[in-house]
Amino acid sequence: MSPTLIVGNWKMNLGVRESYDLARQIAPACEGLQKTSVWVAPSCLSVPAVAKVFRDSAVEVGSQNVHWEDRGAYTGEISPTQLREVGGSFALVGHSERRSVCDESIELCARRALGAIRAGIKVIFCIGETRGQRESGQTEQTLTAQLLPFLANVQPSHQPAVIVAYEPVWAIGTGLVASEVEIEESHALIASLCQRYLGDSTTPILYGGSVSPANFEDILRCRGVHGVLVGGASLSATKLTELIAISEGHG
Ligand code: 13P
Repeated sequence: MSPTLIVGNWKMNLGVRESYDLARQIAPACEGLQKTSVWVAPSCLSVPAVAKVFRDSAVEVGSQNVHWEDRGAYTGEISPTQLREVGGSFALVGHSERRSVCDESIELCARRALGAIRAGIKVIFCIGETRGQRESGQTEQTLTAQLLPFLANVQPSHQPAVIVAYEPVWAIGTGLVASEVEIEESHALIASLCQRYLGDSTTPILYGGSVSPANFEDILRCRGVHGVLVGGASLSATKLTELIAISEGHG
């Protein structure tokens, strides 16, 4: 069985020094794990400092966004090669905060993800429906529309670099967690799309949205959940350590 993947998304919450300190605090809990992989995504300016802490460990460090080109006139962007050069191995793409606050379109997110994968960066491609979309019965349509322009264009040889995160927008930072049925339905849909377009049923699918030590066990029990993308709780060394312990004790 593949290890459960716990990914911490630190968003824009910590300075470089704070990110380094948090990495040092969680490092001991990330040693010698049997059933869990831990990855962290600090702000891009903190990636070099955090990657240094985890240089000799299994913890992978990534960025919260990435560009599709390696270099060029793209003011304000992060290239996949630059990310690799400072120790990053993966990137989040299409997080709902990028889609809603920064107006990133479905096509732009797909282009970012495809370019990064071509350049050797693993991608955690984030999708999720708003409360309104769920209430009007548009969850399946929304998730499919967000995922397809990416999935349908992944080269077969790049399939191992694909991870999908299901993050209902209404569950992010709200304390509301999707129900078991909601999680299982969405994960089953994503799995079937991965099967159809990648010809593969091993793509890891993560759940994200108010994950905490109090609800993690229940989330892990949901069919089709291979790990979690954690915001708020990943900013606390204590809570992240608890999540790791729950994963190690699960199953
Ligand atoms: P919270 O865990 O704070 O709800 O954030 C989830 C998230 O956006 C992870 O990418």
